[in-house]
Amino acid sequence: MKILVTGGIGYIGSHTCVELLKQGMEVVVFDNLYNAKIDVVDKIKEITGKEITFYQADMRDKESMRPIFEENKIDAVIHFAGLKAVGESVEKPLLYYQNNITGTLNLCELMKEYDCKKMIFSSSATVYGAPKTVPIKEDFPLHTTNPYGTTKLMLEQILTDFCKADPDWHVILLRYFNPIGAHPTAFIGEMPNGVPQNLIPYLTQTAMGIRKELSVFGDDYDTPDGSCIRDYIYVVDLAKAHVCAMTRIMEDQTTEPVEVYNIGTGTGTSVLELINAFEKATGVKLNYKIVGRRAGDIEKVWGNVGKANKVLGWKAETPLEDVLASAWKWQCVLREKGIM
Ligand code: NAD
Ligand code: WQD
Repeated sequence: MKILVTGGIGYIGSHTCVELLKQGMEVVVFDNLYNAKIDVVDKIKEITGKEITFYQADMRDKESMRPIFEENKIDAVIHFAGLKAVGESVEKPLLYYQNNITGTLNLCELMKEYDCKKMIFSSSATVYGAPKTVPIKEDFPLHTTNPYGTTKLMLEQILTDFCKADPDWHVILLRYFNPIGAHPTAFIGEMPNGVPQNLIPYLTQTAMGIRKELSVFGDDYDTPDGSCIRDYIYVVDLAKAHVCAMTRIMEDQTTEPVEVYNIGTGTGTSVLELINAFEKATGVKLNYKIVGRRAGDIEKVWGNVGKANKVLGWKAETPLEDVLASAWKWQCVLREKGIM
């Protein structure tokens, strides 16, 4: 089984390549290196002892991807490639629509041309917007509040329309909550460019002394300790969900042209709870202060993941403290190597 993993040397893609290879699948990757480093290809081999076939290509340039399909019989695609920074998407909407939408249309045209009609798509819980209640189920209303989230929602609809037009198309949409942590080997992990926007990399850089202190964005929410709640999912558990979805789609077990799954722990954790868990897991005291709310933040977001548990046979299994320890180990390796 030969799988094309787009954006496959990025954060989630690289962890997924490891799990696919561990299951004996052949992996082909393309990436334009916009937010990834080429040495991740070697790291994946170091972890698994197996090779991947890498192409540097940009999905905005359809012909740059053609050699991939000319030189490989691709059985299915896991589509990670895309821009994902919410704040940047507000400043540069055209960049996000060009990259994420046009790029995906180019990819799908090539898939169709080369008779590859199975895709697992990286969607996001961001398509739910601010839910009226939690936990969120897959049939909750969809609503986005930023261009990034809108590209995800649009792509879900585009892929659904493809499947309606051609019954041979099968798509699984995986809506990730908040992926965090790093591979246990600390060979791969999250490598944010510049000042991290997401909580965990900012937290570990603060613990490392790279950042002066972590600002906790608000403690006046309607939550037990006043800080926002999220569903933090270990990136390796998330990667394993893709193997389950790939197995399902490749064995033609899907019962609908488009299937949708929430991929999270099903448990909400507040920012302050997460800080406490980090300090307990690592023994490192974190310097933080409570500041005002961040614009656009949603008070409570966590998923009902019963469908993924039942139908995909997948469940997040890594305790939060182990996940946070993996993030800290990764940060320590980055520091040892003088990278961050
Ligand atoms: P990432 O930035 O680490 O990985 C995305 C990869 O795609 C990068 O390696 C980047 O270089 C590549 N890429 C971007 N545009 C490209 C293009 N035009 N052509 C070729 N390659 C391109 O991000 P990630 O956290 O691994 O996210 C992977 C996917 O999961 C994204 O689609 C993202 O929207 C989605 N997602 C991420 C999160 C999260 O919090 N990390 C949550 C929900 C969904
Ligand atoms: C988590 C919590 C902050 C930083 C984003 C995207 C979403 C998805 C996942 C792509 C929030 C708090 C954060 C800090 C803080 N990405 N926080 N201080 O906003 O839940 O989701 O990443 O699909 O689309 O929106 O993640 O890590 O930014 O924030 O207090 O310095 O941590 O308020 O409650 P978020 P995050």
